Amino acid sequence: MIKVGLLGCGNVGQVIVKEHVDVEIVALYDSEISLAEKLAATTGSRAYRNFDEFVRQDFDIVVEAASVEAVKMYAEEILKQGKDVVILSVGALADEKLRKRLEKSALEAGKKVYIPSGAILGLDNLKIGQISGISHLMLRTTKNPKSLGIETDHKMMIFKGRANDCIKRFPKNINVAVALELATEHEAEVELWVDPDIDRNMHEVFVKGEFGDFYIKVNNNPCPDNPATSYLAALSIVTLLKNLDRPIVVGT
Ligand SMILES: NC(=O)c1ccc[n+]([C@@H]2O[C@H](COP(=O)([O-])OP(=O)(O)OC[C@H]3O[C@@H](n4cnc5c(N)ncnc54)[C@H](O)[C@@H]3O)[C@@H](O)[C@H]2O)c1
Repeated sequence: MIKVGLLGCGNVGQVIVKEHVDVEIVALYDSEISLAEKLAATTGSRAYRNFDEFVRQDFDIVVEAASVEAVKMYAEEILKQGKDVVILSVGALADEKLRKRLEKSALEAGKKVYIPSGAILGLDNLKIGQISGISHLMLRTTKNPKSLGIETDHKMMIFKGRANDCIKRFPKNINVAVALELATEHEAEVELWVDPDIDRNMHEVFVKGEFGDFYIKVNNNPCPDNPATSYLAALSIVTLLKNLDRPIVVGT
């Protein structure tokens, strides 16, 4: 059974621990040690106060469900320690220098960096953009204004532009755009909207290319116990882990 080290024991980490299947979670790390200890008590695994000690434990893969900063601080070292890594805070990879360093470390160590689908669907098929022309790639994200700390009584667009510029103003809302860009190897246009009449995060992806065109709309339910987090994002990691060592690989 694949052994997992969990980096980040917040909303997503808690769902992963609760719902994991066919993998063993053996080690936990969070800068908030009490969160790691609480989860350790439910899994029978161990919480570590020190990252260096955590990463040297006997497991195959680290799941990062922490923050962009955590990816910057730890992802290279994880690969150098001979572990694969799942990166949920994929916005970190908008930094090209970091992305190149991770690629190099992964190649040298013979390990992989996995980017889960997170809060959207369709990253597998979007990879056709790597071999065939894409003329239009647009992400429209709509959230309740309260989730962005905005007061308004009407629907409005608060950002339109390139993903790299969105990062500067809304750093926590860039994961999906960066995942789309990495999958397609094309730049994405981003629109960020707030709408007081919706209570779920909505992502719409518009794509046109040589293949034709498609539109994906995802209305994300929050986690059952954690309204701040899209359940789909946590489930995408649980599914990725479950399928890692399966002999038949579907939809890559
Ligand atoms: N790719 C996607 O579609 C997608 C979807 C949802 C969430 N996310 C990202 O996943 C991450 C986790 O989301 P969440 O809702 O569980 O967040 P959260 O804030 O509930 O939990 C994050 C946990 O990680 C810990 N942490 C943060 N930085 C750390 C560091 N440098 N070292 C050690 N521990 C650290 C925090 O103490 C916290 O307990 C976030 O970065 C979020 O933006 C991505």
